[in-house]
Amino acid sequence: MDPKEIVRAGYDTVSDAYRDDQGGGPAGLDIRYADWLAELIPRLTPSTRVLDLGCGCGLPTTKLLAERFRVTGVDFSPLQIERARRLVPRAQFLCADMTAIDFPRGSFDAVVSFYAIIHVPQAEHRTVYAGIRRWLRPGGLFLATIGAMATTGIDDDYLGAPMYWSHPDLTTSLAWLADLGFEVLWTRFIPEANTGHTLLLARSA
Ligand SMILES: C[S@@+](CC[C@H](N)C(=O)[O-])C[C@H]1O[C@@H](n2cnc3c(N)ncnc32)[C@H](O)[C@@H]1O
Repeated sequence: MDPKEIVRAGYDTVSDAYRDDQGGGPAGLDIRYADWLAELIPRLTPSTRVLDLGCGCGLPTTKLLAERFRVTGVDFSPLQIERARRLVPRAQFLCADMTAIDFPRGSFDAVVSFYAIIHVPQAEHRTVYAGIRRWLRPGGLFLATIGAMATTGIDDDYLGAPMYWSHPDLTTSLAWLADLGFEVLWTRFIPEANTGHTLLLARSA
């Protein structure tokens, strides 16, 4: 089965289990988003255009951002997007694959992507980063959780459905981002059980 189809079908199945209509979700994930966005929001002006890549059901990130900014959420799970349109009516949503979608150059002042690029086959990560770089205006900001350690594989029962993850180690991702013209402002390890991810803030040169 195509790995992206595993992910798309997986989030159609686990959407509610991953995050309910009140924004509650798997233990440990809920408390962090507001803190992470607090690193970004003071750097943005009220008319800012923000893209949320892999936005899920829109809670909590798209909703928090849409209270202040013009936000577009993208996700390729039809159920996630259906819920997002209902839960965050102030934002615009597109049901699309982030590796295939395109926007005009400089369309956004900021791009956020939490726990989503880690589901894209790593051979396509550079394409995703190149798109983000193109869609950001010069000086635009990119805040994301990406892989810390290299891994590619399938869990047969993630909240009740098969799920696929794929990412290189952080050094490789940072090299791709630098090569594409991002200045990485900081990275932070976000521990999670026996593993963890990297939170990263970068600026488009
Ligand atoms: C772990 S959830 C995270 C959702 C939200 N960003 C959050 O942190 O709560 C990952 C989301 O990324 C979406 N996703 C994964 N690969 C994608 C792709 N290639 N294009 C668009 N969305 C994708 C999934 O459908 C899912 O909704």
